[in-house]
Amino acid sequence: MSSFKLLVKGAKQVVLVSKNGEKFLTKDGMQNLAVIENGSVVIGHDGLIKAVGPADSIESQFRRAVFDKVLDATGMCVLPGLVDAHTHPVWAGDRVHEFAMKLAGATYMEVHEAGGGIHFTVRHTHAADSETLLQGLKGRLERMLRAGTTLVECKSGYGLELETELKMLSVIDSARKSSPIGISSTYCGAHAVPRGKTMEQATEDILAVQLPAIQKHISAGSLQVDNIDVFCEKGVFDLNSTRRILQAGKDMGLNINFHGDELHPMNSAQLGAELGALAISHLEEVTDEGIAAMAASQTSAVLLPTTAYILRLPCPRARDMLDAGVIVSLGSDFNPNAYCCSMPMVMHLACVTLKMSLSEALAAATINAAYALNCSHTHGSVEPGKQGDLLIINAPRWEHLIYQFGSHQELIRSVIIKGNIVYE
Ligand code: NIG
Ligand code: FE
Repeated sequence: MSSFKLLVKGAKQVVLVSKNGEKFLTKDGMQNLAVIENGSVVIGHDGLIKAVGPADSIESQFRRAVFDKVLDATGMCVLPGLVDAHTHPVWAGDRVHEFAMKLAGATYMEVHEAGGGIHFTVRHTHAADSETLLQGLKGRLERMLRAGTTLVECKSGYGLELETELKMLSVIDSARKSSPIGISSTYCGAHAVPRGKTMEQATEDILAVQLPAIQKHISAGSLQVDNIDVFCEKGVFDLNSTRRILQAGKDMGLNINFHGDELHPMNSAQLGAELGALAISHLEEVTDEGIAAMAASQTSAVLLPTTAYILRLPCPRARDMLDAGVIVSLGSDFNPNAYCCSMPMVMHLACVTLKMSLSEALAAATINAAYALNCSHTHGSVEPGKQGDLLIINAPRWEHLIYQFGSHQELIRSVIIKGNIVYE
């Protein structure tokens, strides 16, 4: 008799998102997500989805099977675990005092140039030991998980020198081994120019010192790093430095996934498309040419509605990007500036402030965010063969996850990762 880890049965709706093994969805696909009314899902002992379909056909197909656990989802909806494609979750020292300054009118760059912002967090992260950073990270990952995130990108970038960057990457690695949530790890040593250095000196340090040392750790198997990031911005890293750092990371086998066109148009989108970047984040100031370059490439735009919201910036042009055929995904941008762990909240903002539809927002926070992390073959949809990461909500239609903003705690009944119930 065959046995399985989990049967989720009789859900009012099972939102597959995609059903034909798509790597990502663009506008038309995003508007027509695959949904099964009254469906069931089977997850095997290997943590992978074995079957998904109408409840009665799953019932007859698995009549003789044994399940470790059966979850009755009558009246509820099943969705793929959410994917958060952009976070900065490793740091010490919050910046609640700067929130007040910004509300009073200070801009992000004014705070940064006065030694606050990223520089404030760099000082506190430098001074913190690994254990303190790990405990802080695990608490934040737990919050994300309770909000339905089952795969998250985690950046370094509050070190800006080798020792602290390595400390952050090791902390991310430890969390990967000890937390159920999936992690994609990003080296972001070019997040700011360290105080007292020029951009040229910082670039040389990254190219000649930091990247070679990280490469050694990767080759020795003592560190896993998946992506490389640069903050390509006026007053931070210019286009040429960005190109050199990203290319060096790519040559090491890292995926390019960087901050671009956030506060000023920098031609970051064109650069990313040219370098074959997997993703470019922010893009509040992207130009028409940048959108066209991304549409002609397979580079995903990771939009971060919390940033524009909290800094009162113009919103990224999600509609123009979708209409042009860009692969639009979403991230929380969790960091000491934008303290948001909740992808349901991010999707809500994406709908209201970026004018995305409910189904576009869900696709952007599942299959497309997984694509931005090079994980859409394993994550981002409820399809046989993919990892058994599910979200069960106590509502009769899946759209409630976005509609009921700020109250996902009441709505989320269970979070499942690899067929294990990790939160209920
Ligand atoms: O994505 N723009 C650069 N990086 C972050 C902010 C990091 C911070 O302020 O600590 C972002 O918004
Ligand atoms: Fe960021």
